[in-house]
Amino acid sequence: MFGTSPKTDHTHLLPERQDDSLPLPGMRVATEIHEAESGGGAEVTLTFGSLFVGIGGFDLGFERAGMTCTWQVEINDYCNKVLAKHWPDVRRYKDVRECGAHNLEPVDVICGGFPCQPHSVAGKRKGAADDRNLWPEFLRVVREVRPTWVVAENVPGIVSLYLDTVLSDLEDIGYTATTFDIPACAFDAPHRRERIFVVANADTMRLPHAANESRNGQGWQNAAPSSHALQV
Ligand SMILES: C[S@@+](CC[C@H](N)C(=O)[O-])C[C@H]1O[C@@H](n2cnc3c(N)ncnc32)[C@H](O)[C@@H]1O
Repeated sequence: MFGTSPKTDHTHLLPERQDDSLPLPGMRVATEIHEAESGGGAEVTLTFGSLFVGIGGFDLGFERAGMTCTWQVEINDYCNKVLAKHWPDVRRYKDVRECGAHNLEPVDVICGGFPCQPHSVAGKRKGAADDRNLWPEFLRVVREVRPTWVVAENVPGIVSLYLDTVLSDLEDIGYTATTFDIPACAFDAPHRRERIFVVANADTMRLPHAANESRNGQGWQNAAPSSHALQV
């Protein structure tokens, strides 16, 4: 099982969760892989680097799953004040365009909700033509740092506009990717707020049955069956 480092334990900031036996599908598989690699039964702490951190939603969740944050990349000054308060010991960088293998430590997982304005139905939906589209920077950092796992998040508007690009970009650099549409209401939030998650693994092994995974009654669905969805 994952261990929780006391130094990075922010679980007191989170609401009580109803059922801790329902981790994200990708996370559960990660645990199994690392237990298998460590001989089984040993406590393993995965490290992660966080891009486009905002106020640290991914970071809270991953730490709750027992992972340790190694670095964060966020350009906004207010967000950085919030992050500095809750993660005083984590190395932080501002502009993703200045980050890469030359300054980021290796990690097991890179996560991030890259800016959604180019893809959102609330905007002009210019996708790749929008100069706020920072997916190419996310991809470059992954290509340079080579984590075992990548977890990216964006708005549902990306499905019809740019998700195929994200998935094929990851495949081009040797990752197997699949997608999940996870609404906030699956975690008892009083609104739907769907979000698209891409979970990708460096081609060391395949996610068993992830493409078909669903959690009836928990709000899980596979998001976008594309030609890049996982084949098992
Ligand atoms: C969709 S928000 C991420 C929200 C985050 N998941 C959370 O839990 O708060 C995208 C973030 O990317 C940041 N960002 C935009 N351009 C950036 C850049 N060049 N380098 C680093 N971060 C950037 C924004 O300031 C914003 O906080």
